[in-house]
Formats: sequence, structure tokens, C-alpha cells
Amino acid sequence: MTTQVRTAIFPVAGLGTRFLPATKATPKELLPVLDTPLIQYAIDEARAAGIERMVFVSHKSKPAIERHVMDDIRLRRELEARGKPQLAEELKEAAFCPKTDDVVFTMQDEPRGLGHAVLCAREHVLDGPVAVILPDDLILGTPCLGEMIEAYDGGHLVSTMAVAAEDVSKYGVLAVTSQQGRITRAHGMVEKPAVEDAPSRLAVIGRYVLDPDIFHALETQAPGAGGEIQLTDAIDAHAMERPISGFRFSGTRFDCGSKSGMLEATLHLAGQDPELAEVLDAYTGNRNHARSAA
Ligand code: G1P
Repeated sequence: MTTQVRTAIFPVAGLGTRFLPATKATPKELLPVLDTPLIQYAIDEARAAGIERMVFVSHKSKPAIERHVMDDIRLRRELEARGKPQLAEELKEAAFCPKTDDVVFTMQDEPRGLGHAVLCAREHVLDGPVAVILPDDLILGTPCLGEMIEAYDGGHLVSTMAVAAEDVSKYGVLAVTSQQGRITRAHGMVEKPAVEDAPSRLAVIGRYVLDPDIFHALETQAPGAGGEIQLTDAIDAHAMERPISGFRFSGTRFDCGSKSGMLEATLHLAGQDPELAEVLDAYTGNRNHARSAA
């Protein structure tokens, strides 16, 4: 059995209710941070980690995701004809070529949870451990999945971050056994616990490297929090046989499933772009001026 991580699963079937009305016609994964949709950051991270096959678990109401990720020759030709060959080249680089890239789209027809979404990918994964990337957890800086794969030593590895007590109920939370540098050994995981029941404040962020046994566990996993089949529960169910580890990643994470996280990510990237940083400074300066004048 290979230990190489060859497949990444992108669960992208969700409705994106927190961003309505923006997500009525536009999938939440295509909402941009500056000019780049969230799904593109996730794809770039998987590519940087050397993933061979990308499996998108989508929904039939979201065909725009496929349109975005696949190469659009007609659009490129049009851009070239209009004297924008560099933009055409950038689009080509970012997109998947149907002839040379290994990309699979499969559908999750009902919103039955993250665990169910991962199970939908089962027949499309290559052998060995599989990665799962949740695109609305945007991690900038050092690409997270690559460093996780490097640290992976079997079992299930999840990326983790310490969160405030009042936020634990939004996450999967680790029951910590011990800590060695960036790695936390855990004996269990709880999905969205009440603050008083949380085993720690170490939350799972949307990157996983999973032993392929996870698919067996998911097959029989009963619905949990929110009446959905939870990936957390399936990982927890076999903690004795498949050790659970947490990985403290180096990058900066933005919760782009929330408006505040989207705004922070946008401001963060704008601050790194000289032209946009000027706009930002002028805006902040004006606001401060208006405040002190008030
Ligand atoms: C999912 C997982 C949760 C994890 C979170 C990270 O929850 O179920 O365990 O902590 O992603 O963002 P969701 O945010 O989809 O409700």
C-alpha cells in the first residue's frame, strides 16, 4: 500500500446560505478574494503539494465551478485576438487541461454533510491516503497541504488552530493526548461541541490527510451534529486503529465562509499589492480623519 498522497477531494456541493444573495447564482467557491475565486487558491495549494488527481464533489446547480476550473479555449482565443496574450496565458496556467490533467467531477445530490461528500468521492480516488481541502478555509503564506503531506506519518492528520472558547462550537475539536512541536496526538475528535463539552480549544481547519480506511468508516457512520454525516465522527470512530494527529500549519488562515473572514482576507492581500495598499491607506486615513473630526 502506497503512502503517497495522490488524490485531493474538494467538497463543493454546499448551498452557501451565509452569502446569499451573492450565492444565489454564483457558487460560494467562486466568490473572489480580490480577483481570484476561493476554489482557485485551493487548487493551487493542491498542485503545489504534488497532487495527481483532483476530485470535485459538486452539485448539479453549480455548473459554474466546472466552467471556472477547466480550460476555456474560446475565451483565450478571444483575449489573444484582442491583444491580451498574457492574460490568456495566465488563464491557461490556472485552469485544468482536459487532455493532460486528471480531474473528476462527481455529484452529491443531497446535502447530507461533509462525511457524505467525502464518501461520494470514494470510487474516484487513487490508492493511498487522500487529502481533503475545504476551499472556504483560505490559508495564505506557506501552502498548508504540502507541509502536512511532508509531516504525515500514517493514520489521519488534520490541520489545527487554537480558537477562542466562544468559537469552539463552530468546529471539529481535538481531544488532545500529547504535543510534540507542530504535531498534536489526539485520542478523539468532537464535531461542534458546546463550549462546556469541548475537549480542548484546538479546532480542525479544512485540510485533512486521511487513511483510505476512512471510506469504510463513512459507509456506516450515523448522522451526527446538524443531522449530517460528519467526517469528524468517522475519524473519531476508529481512533484506536487509525491514530489521529493534528498539524499546526505555518500559514495564515481566513474563514472565508464568513463575511468577516472574506473581508480580512481581502484586506490582507490588498495590503500586499502596492496600488491597492495606497487605496487602503487613503481609505483608512479618511476614516480616521472623519472620526477625529466627529
Ligand atoms: C467543517 C467540519 C469541521 C471543521 C470545519 C473547518 O465544518 O465539519 O469539523 O472544523 O469545517 O472549517 P463546517 O465549517 O463545514 O460547518
